[in-house]
Amino acid sequence: MPIHAIEDILFSQGFGTRRVCAGLVQQGLVDIEGRTLDDPAEAFEATGLSFTVQGKPWAYQAQAYLMLHKPAGHECSQKPGAWPSIYTLLPGPIRQRGGGAAAGVQAVGRLDQDTTGLLLLSDDGKFIHRMSSPRHHVPKVYELVTKHPVTPAQVSRLLAGVVLDDDPKPVRAAACEHTGEHHLRLTLTEGKYHQVKRMLAAVGNRVEQLHRSSIGGLVLPADLAPGQWRWLSAADLQSISA
Ligand code: URA
Repeated sequence: MPIHAIEDILFSQGFGTRRVCAGLVQQGLVDIEGRTLDDPAEAFEATGLSFTVQGKPWAYQAQAYLMLHKPAGHECSQKPGAWPSIYTLLPGPIRQRGGGAAAGVQAVGRLDQDTTGLLLLSDDGKFIHRMSSPRHHVPKVYELVTKHPVTPAQVSRLLAGVVLDDDPKPVRAAACEHTGEHHLRLTLTEGKYHQVKRMLAAVGNRVEQLHRSSIGGLVLPADLAPGQWRWLSAADLQSISA
């Protein structure tokens, strides 16, 4: 197993430039197993390493895969216009890891400012591409509240396919459950711009609230409050790619 200097490990995790990371160690701000380090060149096996930086615990992750319960009132852009960015909900090191121009994690597909629910983020380009490519047909489940009562005809049209203004090829829901007078559960396997809202508008209704409850086999955990994030486990990763 390769071992790395602690300053390089801190750098890879987003704790700042190499110089800043070396400084953190020299100032006695990094602890491993209760021992305060003082040599930035001291080497460790990175895999499975846990440490604290300024008292905050951190577990080494070679690549970052996380889920966020996106709250309403946040934009998925790094440089948002009117609303705060979802990236402000993540700790600094996750936003900075890797350094350079393309630093940090990126959202796997975007949700609208007013949409809530499960959002995945990663710094693994292949994973982001695989999860967001329409060719991979990863099912995403949305819970909707509609302005007008949902009719059986609207459900049939959503399943049969509707034409959106920018594309002559109809888009259809992979599944559509009528869960209440004003409630629908819609499963989509692609992610066009404002797709759910445009599909509902195309059948003569309107989305009042939109929440993404799952991606692939991964369900947003009930104990992850809006605005909270957590690392994906190996089982989570398997459930989305299965
Ligand atoms: N479809 C939409 O219209 N908005 C979202 O945020 C996600 C899917």
